[in-house]
Amino acid sequence: MVELPKRLQIKLSERATNNALRQLPIANHLIDFSSNDYLGFARDEAVFKMASEILRNEGIRTNGATGSRLLTGNSELYGQLEALLAKFYDTEAALVFNSGYDANIGFFSSVPQRGDVVLYDELCHASIRDGIGMSNAQHYKFKHNDVEDLYRSIERVKSKNTDSIIYVVTESVFSMDGDAPDLEALAILCKANGCYLVVDEAHAVGVYGEKGEGLLHQLVQQDKVFARIITFGKAMGCHGAAILGSEALKSYLVNFARSFIYTTGLPPHSLATILAVHQRLENNGQVGTPFGGIQTLKNNIQFFNARLIALGLEQYFIPSNSAIHCCLVPGNKQVKYWSGQLREKGFDVKPIMSPTVPKGQERLRFCIHSYNSENQINSLLLHLEMLVHLSEK
Ligand SMILES: Cc1ncc(COP(=O)(O)O)c(C=O)c1O
Repeated sequence: MVELPKRLQIKLSERATNNALRQLPIANHLIDFSSNDYLGFARDEAVFKMASEILRNEGIRTNGATGSRLLTGNSELYGQLEALLAKFYDTEAALVFNSGYDANIGFFSSVPQRGDVVLYDELCHASIRDGIGMSNAQHYKFKHNDVEDLYRSIERVKSKNTDSIIYVVTESVFSMDGDAPDLEALAILCKANGCYLVVDEAHAVGVYGEKGEGLLHQLVQQDKVFARIITFGKAMGCHGAAILGSEALKSYLVNFARSFIYTTGLPPHSLATILAVHQRLENNGQVGTPFGGIQTLKNNIQFFNARLIALGLEQYFIPSNSAIHCCLVPGNKQVKYWSGQLREKGFDVKPIMSPTVPKGQERLRFCIHSYNSENQINSLLLHLEMLVHLSEK
């Protein structure tokens, strides 16, 4: 094999020295407090059967998409799925992408133009930041969930460039913190200042809303929002993503989003699975075997928070009502050690290390699921309490 260039070898060994080397984990059978499968749909037999039925009913027997959606890859299921998504999420149009990463780089690299300004929350996901980095627009961070700081940034931009279009970008649930911005305040601020609000709902769909339509849908009228990014690899338990907005935005993305144009479409089975999950959510478990359900997930989240308070652990956690809960454990070495200790007790809880999060803000990230039992949650937090006590001695 040709050796890795020296410079790259040095970068890798620096990662190892900093305890920050990323390595692919081996699949395990521990109690799941780490996957994004919040509702258990990835393992839901009813969804699996429904997806197969959709393919059978449509007479689809192909394994792959065979090409880009603009060439041969636009299977008939895409039309059905995008119509269903538009209805389910209460929007004019939906455009399916191969992943949330693709959706974000496609949107942010093509929509904001030279002379425009993108104001984004400093903790936005890498896919948003990578997309913004590919655009010709100017871009500035605002302080995490700080509406006043955003307001000051808008004022600054407006005082300098009067004809810039301003895009404001946030997530409704932050992936590495689990917290949420004041979406109503953001929507009002954007409307009052003529800014275009874009919200990534990757970790909110399936978790919030009566049927899992997301947090933005629950709180904000859709006429205040320019675009929503939803993903199907988390609570939906499948793969792929969609951008929700107007028909004109959809047409623009079909023409200019390079991560949409220059890639093979999703295989029919993926589309059928996304359709099946939404049918399942629409019927709230009345079709086939009932799934754990959004309510069970909410109960588990409430139980988790109640136990944090009862055990005096609340102070170590970032406040969250979502399925993601983070306990700050500064230092890559320490957070890895704690994760290892929980693993030895049978719990899969991932350490989030720098550089994924800033140095000193390393954390254990707990993902709650509808299929976690109260006993499991309780036992997990008792072990965590022990680790906290030992570290304070
Ligand atoms: C907020 C957010 N947006 C987008 C993505 C990317 O989604 P996908 O995994 O479908 O590429 C993620 C994934 O972790 C995310 O957390």
